[in-house]
Amino acid sequence: DISDRKQADERQRVLINELNHRVKNTLATVQALATYTFRRGSDDDALSRFEGRLMALSRAHNVLTDESWSGANLRDIAADTVESIAGQGSNRLRLQGADLYLKPQLALSIATVLHELSTNAAKYGALSSPEGRISLSWTIEEESSGQVLKIIWEESAGPIVSPPLKKGFGTRVIERSLSQEHQAKVKLEFPFTGVRCEMEIPIIEVV
Ligand SMILES: Nc1ncnc2c1ncn2[C@@H]1O[C@H](COP(=O)(O)OP(=O)(O)O)[C@@H](O)[C@H]1O
Ligand SMILES: [Mg+2]
Repeated sequence: DISDRKQADERQRVLINELNHRVKNTLATVQALATYTFRRGSDDDALSRFEGRLMALSRAHNVLTDESWSGANLRDIAADTVESIAGQGSNRLRLQGADLYLKPQLALSIATVLHELSTNAAKYGALSSPEGRISLSWTIEEESSGQVLKIIWEESAGPIVSPPLKKGFGTRVIERSLSQEHQAKVKLEFPFTGVRCEMEIPIIEVV
């Protein structure tokens, strides 16, 4: 009847507004990626680095769409993002943690950070040598401030690492995107055994 019809119209209007909002968010993200990637004067592979970043974002969107944008499983986001660089079903990647659903915006940020960690691992770290390994583990911990999601990225058995003299875009994305958008604490370290990144995200961001 008429009231059903009105409800359906209303639901559609809400969905379209939501989609519109998300598309705008995504376009703003893409614009920021382009600005960062091309700012340093375009060298040869700036375009392919940009495409890689867009693809990572697009893969995370697919994971979210599979779940009707209600949220994304951290394991799916991590596997998709890292395996796109390490290789499908790679035995170099170990994922460890309980099933955990992330809000869409956090899922996108985590995918972006994991993409930068993975490309760096391929260029300089564990994925640049045949024996190298990556472990990604997550737990929920009680802190004085409340519950936090703690994610640890740890490279091992790769080349000997020395701390970098300068930071590039990747480091800035890793250190800043989660802290600025999600009130997270992020620690990126360069022990000689392999890069280690620890992220602590307030639990409100989990579905
Ligand atoms: N996984 C890693 N293993 C060893 N060194 C790394 C790793 N990731 C980053 N680095 C070092 O940190 C530097 C900065 O990385 P980044 O900010 O992503 O810039 P870029 O990738 O453009 O060099 C790299 O040039 C490299 O020296
Ligand atoms: Mg990099």
